Amino acid sequence: MTKTRVAVLISGRGSNMKALIDAAKAPTYPAEIVLVVSNMPGAGGLAAAAAENIRTVTINHKTFGAGADARRGFEAALTTALNGARADLVCLAGFMRLLSADFVGGWRGRLINIHPSLLPAFKGLDAHAEMLRAGVKIAGCTVHFVSAEMDAGPIIGQAAVPVFDGDTPDSLAARILAEEHRLYPECVRRIAAGDILLDGEGMVRISGAQASGALLNPPPIPTETTPPR
Ligand code: GRF
Repeated sequence: MTKTRVAVLISGRGSNMKALIDAAKAPTYPAEIVLVVSNMPGAGGLAAAAAENIRTVTINHKTFGAGADARRGFEAALTTALNGARADLVCLAGFMRLLSADFVGGWRGRLINIHPSLLPAFKGLDAHAEMLRAGVKIAGCTVHFVSAEMDAGPIIGQAAVPVFDGDTPDSLAARILAEEHRLYPECVRRIAAGDILLDGEGMVRISGAQASGALLNPPPIPTETTPPR
């Protein structure tokens, strides 16, 4: 089996990166993690990747100055690293830099991200607190193809969790993160297996198994059943 070569881009602790690395350890998993790139020197995820013998590169965006030229320089270095690793698929996992339309266009259909809300609701940085402020009763996470607009690209997969009374942004984030760690490797698996197709209209088509059933919150209260006569 030829495995899909995956590069993961991080800026921080890299728990989603670790979930991808762990999933890829299974011999039948159709993707392998060939490179981890961080724009932040000392990001926690770098050590975690190195401990798994995965090649890591730090491309510190600050060394490229500021403005459009700086972004071009940063993205050129990123492209060199990704091409050097012969990456087929790039997974953003807590990567805190916006990528230019040019860069994103060059990776169309091969650049994905995970976001801690059920997109298109609650884009941006403060999703957990905003969900609590809005009073939603079901939250979740989304894996999507990256487009030039932040958190707006074609949706690949989603996982839902209930929101409980008394949740804080941290407690909700932890519940969602546990599902991120399940959803991201599954989406990468499906992409590598060829189950995910980005059509000409920018919609994702999924072949193969899809979910059944629903999450209700509050859940239906079981009613007494009349014993059979
Ligand atoms: C995750 O919540 C992800 O959805 C968001 O950034 C966070 C990264 O966490 N994009 P980690 O670095 O993967 O632990």
